[in-house]
Amino acid sequence: MELIEGKPVAQAILNELAERVGKNPASRPCVAFIRVGEDPASVYYVRSKQKTAEKIGIESRLNVLPDTISQQALFAEIDALNADPKVHGILVQAPLPDHLDERATFNRVSPDKDVDGFNQVNLGRLVQEDPSAFVACTPAGVVEMIKRHRIETAGKHVVVIGRSLIVGKPAALLFMRKAEFANSTVTVCHSRTQNLAEITRQADILIAAIGRAGYVTKDMVKPGAVVIDVGINRVDDPQSAKGYKIAGDVQFDEVAPQCKAITPVPGGVGLMTVAMLMSNTVKAWEASNR
Ligand code: GUN
Repeated sequence: MELIEGKPVAQAILNELAERVGKNPASRPCVAFIRVGEDPASVYYVRSKQKTAEKIGIESRLNVLPDTISQQALFAEIDALNADPKVHGILVQAPLPDHLDERATFNRVSPDKDVDGFNQVNLGRLVQEDPSAFVACTPAGVVEMIKRHRIETAGKHVVVIGRSLIVGKPAALLFMRKAEFANSTVTVCHSRTQNLAEITRQADILIAAIGRAGYVTKDMVKPGAVVIDVGINRVDDPQSAKGYKIAGDVQFDEVAPQCKAITPVPGGVGLMTVAMLMSNTVKAWEASNR
């Protein structure tokens, strides 16, 4: 069994990006974060994205807005960043409070600054296989891990569990592309899928993006499969100082021994998400310098 760790792959990508950033000392890439409210996971994610940005010479800004903010006021914040030539990337951290419309919010971000890839224009570009598309960071990170571990995907059966905008849907689109490290036969399963285990057992590459700790068990995985665990779930852990630990969507201990390769949680896909956000930011900056 091969362990596909995120750290070395993410680090290699960040090193390449730092070099690209250094090539143009006259300008620096800048990513702006909008966080609405104080959701602890969002606070943590945005902070870790800012720290990574700083390490490779990307500037970042953070606008923290009250969780009572109106949709119009949120749009006004986004419009100001869209119009600011010093800002190359904009990320509105999800989830948003219930009274705000996430889809409308993501669509308000200029497609050329949409480093999350959640805007309808970038999703359209992804469907059209347009290389200018910004692709959602987590699924883009999954493809990058597969690429750098030279895992064969052409003609292979990729089964994605989960149909979210953030992971499941773009992951399926990426693996079905006519491209290197794609050309796969893709099946998307979700909470309403019948005989789920029967389908997941056919996967050569299984992508677990359900958001439920330990959902994928041994009996759901074909021996010799590659398993990519996208889950980042908080589970109670009285042993730890924080009172919780982070667990993936896969029962790692029982699944790992029968896999060809598997990603751990933590230390797997999560690190790639941040690296791909930096990659999208540098891409946006380079496009703006042309
Ligand atoms: N919440 C969880 N993942 C993401 C992400 O990739 N981008 C944003 N904006 N919010 C998220």
